[in-house]
Amino acid sequence: MKGIILAGGTGTRLKALTKVTNKHLLPIYDKPMIYFPINTLKSAAIDSILVVTDKRRTSDFLLLLGSGSDFDVRFTYALQESAKGIADALSKAKDFVYIDDMTVVLGDNIIFGNVKELREPLRKSCRIFLKKVEDPERFGIAYIENGRITKIVEKPKKITSNLAIIGLYQYKSNVFDIINKVQPSKRGEMEITDVNKYFLDNDDIEYRIIDNEWIDAGTIESLFTASEMEKTFVSKVKYS
Ligand code: DAU
Repeated sequence: MKGIILAGGTGTRLKALTKVTNKHLLPIYDKPMIYFPINTLKSAAIDSILVVTDKRRTSDFLLLLGSGSDFDVRFTYALQESAKGIADALSKAKDFVYIDDMTVVLGDNIIFGNVKELREPLRKSCRIFLKKVEDPERFGIAYIENGRITKIVEKPKKITSNLAIIGLYQYKSNVFDIINKVQPSKRGEMEITDVNKYFLDNDDIEYRIIDNEWIDAGTIESLFTASEMEKTFVSKVKYS
């Protein structure tokens, strides 16, 4: 199983904070943001990790993460020339993954603790991870009926499900053929939700609802909340 962290994009929702640096280098209480997706992959015993970044701060990632020896993993790096969407960033991992299965984490997704479901054998070509939220309009949302996914929608306006698709995905290597079929969305991005919809249409998708605490730290408010959650988490670990 290969690991992929997508850490490109522009971070526009964080305004001045991302004017000169990459969002995933910003602090979450005591750690740079990118340490969280690294830990998510490590907790699933994944030690070969590709970091996809934008070209503005590549040298900062190298300085911070290096070869991976400080983390007991092996890092490989790839560039996404411009922020053309999550599926476009994932396409940069094709040669790295080759014919393996992969676990993909979005660089701004903070997941506390070990996601035990990541170690379960992959039965379909795509597995998504879900978590109940109070603000479904911010996320990709899954609709479940009788234990099966019936629909997935990116940031729905009319909401009848509160199950967010978090930024954690597992795929077989045929995902790269699917990405080639996806057209840019109205906002001009290659959407990961369109890739996942393709698997849904072909009955080739499974899901897990996770218990872990999770936050997408891509807005000012959620970045602050993520730091507060990390502070609580660190002190629990320290005094337990
Ligand atoms: O956090 C979960 C949500 O992440 C999902 O529920 C949505 O379905 C998914 O589309 C995504 O939504 P966001 O609006 O939060 O995506 P955002 O544009 O913030 O990108 C998330 C990460 O993906 C970002 O931290 C880095 C990476 N990325 C994004 C883009 C657009 C790239 O590496 N390259 C890109 O071009």
